[in-house]
Amino acid sequence: MVKTIENLIKRKKIKVGVMGLGYVGLPLAVEFARGGFETTGFEMEKEKVLYIMDGESYIPDVQCSEISALVKSGGLKATWDFSKLKLQDAIIICVPTPLRKTKDPDVSFIITAAKQVSISLRKSQMIILESTTYPGTTRELVKPILEESGLKAGKDFFLSFSPERVDPGNKKYGIKNTPKIIGGITPECEKISSFLYSQIISRIIPVSNSETAELVKLLENTFRAVNIAMINEIALMCHKLKIDVWEVIEAASTKPFGFMPFYPGPGIGGHCLPLDPQYLAWKMKSLNFEPRFVELAEAINSKMPEHVVSRVTEILNSGKKPLKSSRLLLIGMAYKPDISDARESPAKDLFALFKEAGAFADYHDPYVPEIEIQGKTYCSKKITGKTLKNYDCTIIATPHSGLDYAAIVKNSKRIFDARNALKIFKSKNIWKL
Ligand SMILES: NC(=O)c1ccc[n+]([C@@H]2O[C@H](COP(=O)([O-])OP(=O)(O)OC[C@H]3O[C@@H](n4cnc5c(N)ncnc54)[C@H](O)[C@@H]3O)[C@@H](O)[C@H]2O)c1
Repeated sequence: MVKTIENLIKRKKIKVGVMGLGYVGLPLAVEFARGGFETTGFEMEKEKVLYIMDGESYIPDVQCSEISALVKSGGLKATWDFSKLKLQDAIIICVPTPLRKTKDPDVSFIITAAKQVSISLRKSQMIILESTTYPGTTRELVKPILEESGLKAGKDFFLSFSPERVDPGNKKYGIKNTPKIIGGITPECEKISSFLYSQIISRIIPVSNSETAELVKLLENTFRAVNIAMINEIALMCHKLKIDVWEVIEAASTKPFGFMPFYPGPGIGGHCLPLDPQYLAWKMKSLNFEPRFVELAEAINSKMPEHVVSRVTEILNSGKKPLKSSRLLLIGMAYKPDISDARESPAKDLFALFKEAGAFADYHDPYVPEIEIQGKTYCSKKITGKTLKNYDCTIIATPHSGLDYAAIVKNSKRIFDARNALKIFKSKNIWKL
């Protein structure tokens, strides 16, 4: 069976279905369609389906022109008709994996998607989970749901896990040139999935099983979350020691071996770093193992917005102004520079904390024209020399490139720079994290 399927893959004679057309699923569907595979995206939100079928994109990393060309040629379709799943030879699941309010994993989207696939599962179909999740999800959660069909994983159908490592906004590394990790329920499952991805991705890294592949992704993001927490703590120490943390990092980075720079900031954001380590922590707690690094990192990173508020309060106090009733402008609402994604952005926490303290807070972000924070919608304010002068303090939360930082420095009364965006400017009105 494997040889026959490999032959069909080589000749681009298999149909690829991608479930969930978000930040991960849409670029992946586009890459398969571009690679010559008849690709169908399955999406619950009808609006997204209509966008695709109209040749429009809602993800900044995917060009409208590309979607419209692929849709016109018939290579890419989108649908909310899940009965068409049975027509697909490979189905890749890219649905969200959020956290519950209790910080436990919410795998309900994976369960729903697996049930949708299970209803019409047929022999020799290949199912691949890409959603980030805890080790064991593919085998312990997805496999039993798919086997409700009466078919056996590894015998009648193929089941694997392959984490998505996409970095939104990254111009250098995209799907094609980011090595792809793949682990199967059986070695055969891995082999066939690896062969499929090798048609569109330059380097495939097969690992022993699906659990290993699941943990690779969590290691990558836990590594980042822990190191950011460590440097955030060093930044807090530097404040006490009256040492410039940015200068320390820059000097330490000259060591040609054994040091990798991480940078402090007002916290961590996005759909991955604040969430993924919690998936690992939850799994380990269920095995009676205390995940100490993950918990410490979460404790430090989640307190950074409060640290910024207390620094801004100090700065205002030094000018005899209380935080309450001060006018504040936050620059950058997205969770990282030059993207529009503000999910879990620490800038939102900062904004909410300033409001709670009675300050009049506005924000400016060319990528995020409006945002909902604690049930209220706010719009990005235009900034000019005149409007900047009206604020008591400007806070750089996310350093988008392309902003006129010289004008911001020239016209702001006080600036708290949480990202070292203003390192080239010398002014006594700039305070750094
Ligand atoms: N965004 C990133 O940078 C990134 C990077 C690597 C990994 N991931 C992981 O990839 C997964 C997807 O993340 P995302 O950022 O693309 O999420 P997203 O919210 O942007 O997109 C998910 C899409 O899935 C749709 N959906 C939900 N249930 C569905 C179902 N049963 N059938 C079809 N569609 C369904 C939603 O409507 C949504 O459009 C998550 O597990 C995430 O942790 C994300």
